[in-house]
Amino acid sequence: MAKDIQVVVTGANGFVARNVRKYLSDNNIKLISISRKDFKKFNNETKIITKNYDEKTILPKLKNSYALIHLIGIGKQTIDNDYNLINVELTKKIINLCKKAKIKKIVYTSGLGVSKNSTLGYFISKYKAERQIIDSKLNYTIFRPSYIVGKDDLFTKYLKKQIKTGQIQIPGSGNYSIQPIHIDDVSKIIFNSITQNKFSKIILDLVGSKSITFEKYVKEFSSGTNTKIKKISLETAYHEAISNPYSKFGVDDLNLLIGDFKGDHKKLKNISKMKFSSIQKLLKSGSLL
Ligand SMILES: NC(=O)c1ccc[n+]([C@@H]2O[C@H](COP(=O)([O-])OP(=O)(O)OC[C@H]3O[C@@H](n4cnc5c(N)ncnc54)[C@H](OP(=O)(O)O)[C@@H]3O)[C@@H](O)[C@H]2O)c1
Repeated sequence: MAKDIQVVVTGANGFVARNVRKYLSDNNIKLISISRKDFKKFNNETKIITKNYDEKTILPKLKNSYALIHLIGIGKQTIDNDYNLINVELTKKIINLCKKAKIKKIVYTSGLGVSKNSTLGYFISKYKAERQIIDSKLNYTIFRPSYIVGKDDLFTKYLKKQIKTGQIQIPGSGNYSIQPIHIDDVSKIIFNSITQNKFSKIILDLVGSKSITFEKYVKEFSSGTNTKIKKISLETAYHEAISNPYSKFGVDDLNLLIGDFKGDHKKLKNISKMKFSSIQKLLKSGSLL
């Protein structure tokens, strides 16, 4: 069945999208991938380059697609690109495109910690995007990821850069935790969510089997590299995040860390029947370095 499926991917140049597109292409899925800027194609892939996801340009090219994987999202706001515009309104536009192109299924990556009780602007925008998808009457799978780890994700790149300077700074105590999941597992489960009915109309936390404190994660990541870990006060970290748009940790990166969210890995495992990589083993093997 998978061979005949054509899938659309939005935000094609992003970290998750690059990895998911490669996985789908390797598994003979036909791809229509959409991005604001040019990118390198995989096998079986058609590119659409568009600045504003204009319907007239895109719609005619989406014919005969079965599913759309919506990987556009921002975790930091600017005057031109705020959460409402990108996470909410652009999702609305994508849902309309799906309906008009008769695409049956949408897969969306929301965020771990999103709920109807969210008080954080980032989570509220993700919650609203989720609601629009659920209310759209399309078939859907909504994933709520913790930190997705790969060789080329932003945080891994940041840690590698810091290691070169001999010191990694962590905000606050580092006692808050993350529940990392490997990008290869994420790519596989997104593929499965398109091809298997058991992923219909559900919301799943996309998390690894173990929560790990931020400090421990950073220590294990850098073990054997002679790197010092320096704790900086949260006040300093937030001040930098608020006053410098290029700061390493944005305001909402800090909020998400301090939020200390835990996800339901058991449910993910029971439904997917997948074997997930151990992040601890990956860290020990040094393969992320
Ligand atoms: N990575 C994680 O650990 C993690 C955790 C939780 C949730 N998520 C969610 O998963 C999704 C993918 O994450 P990611 O890590 O791959 O993020 P990413 O690398 O930042 O990619 C997001 C993509 O969104 C598109 N985008 C951003 N601003 C846009 C705008 N103004 N107009 C149109 N497109 C825009 C861009 O695609 P183009 O450059 O191709 O145009 C960008 O590459 C996001 O929704 C994110 O919130 C990720």
